[in-house]
Amino acid sequence: MLLKFLHSIFIIIFLCNNYIEAKELITWKEFKDSLTANQYPEPTVEKYETVLRLAKDFDITSKLELAMFLAQVYWESVGLQHTKEIACVKTQCPNNYRTGREKDGLYYYGRGYIQLTWLENYANCSSDLYGDMRLVDNPNLVSDTEEGAWGSAFWYWDKYVHDIPEIKDGQFGHTTMAINGPLECKGPYKMKAFKRFVIYSKIYEIFKLSKPLPKQNGCYPMNYNENVDEDTPFFAICKPTGFYQRQAGMYHWCNDNCNAEDPNCPNDMCKCPNDLHLYHMMMKEKKSAKTSTTTMKP
Ligand SMILES: *[C@@H]1O[C@H](CO)[C@@H](O)[C@H](O)[C@H]1NC(C)=O
Repeated sequence: MLLKFLHSIFIIIFLCNNYIEAKELITWKEFKDSLTANQYPEPTVEKYETVLRLAKDFDITSKLELAMFLAQVYWESVGLQHTKEIACVKTQCPNNYRTGREKDGLYYYGRGYIQLTWLENYANCSSDLYGDMRLVDNPNLVSDTEEGAWGSAFWYWDKYVHDIPEIKDGQFGHTTMAINGPLECKGPYKMKAFKRFVIYSKIYEIFKLSKPLPKQNGCYPMNYNENVDEDTPFFAICKPTGFYQRQAGMYHWCNDNCNAEDPNCPNDMCKCPNDLHLYHMMMKEKKSAKTSTTTMKP
């Protein structure tokens, strides 16, 4: 009798546990692994709890959108390790982000997990989150508290990214465009935009998502053709193979080195889509054609 009673208690506890787990958007393990699998340090439980709570407050109800949000946040904060713009920690960057309307001694350089900048953004964020100007009067609340660091990041996402329709189709490039597009989607820093996508692809895997597949679309041009030049790179996700699959860091090693302009991508270490190899062969031919014509000139 007692055994039977205990047995039903265990079943009830088991069911409750599963229910509680299933109710959260992501588990603690998924959150932790999403950082460590990207070579970042293990997070605190406070970070996990703050993410879950604020995701609810800001109506992020899909794991896919949360994966995109976290990928951007991890890139911006180097895996939740920096909540102040690194170049400004010592100096406060007294000459940057100035409009002339700042009070003496207050500086609005990048803070929080998505690097909130400029007086006006601090003001809008503060009034939306708290209905007052506390983040303007004390900008360090954004960098020195989990609440402020995550709150400003979710606020930014909610205002500038959340409603982009292509998110539902897995088009991650659009989120990069909304966060740092002018710097990374055009010009020479496209590799940085791709690295955001590499982090996203890993989180996608950790979260066991299956559809829609991660797509780079929305930032830099995506297709290469006969007319490509050095300003139109082509990137693809590579994966470590065989023995190297189990080696920490190899996922990022493969993506960095196989997508480099001068790729170092041994077949027995990394597996990449064939398109990437074709692209690099084509670029190599273009380069040698160029140098041979220049050297042939009298
Ligand atoms: C801040 O909010 C005001 C009022 O809603 C708006 O006009 C302004 O464009 C916002 N500033 C930024 C940088 O988004």
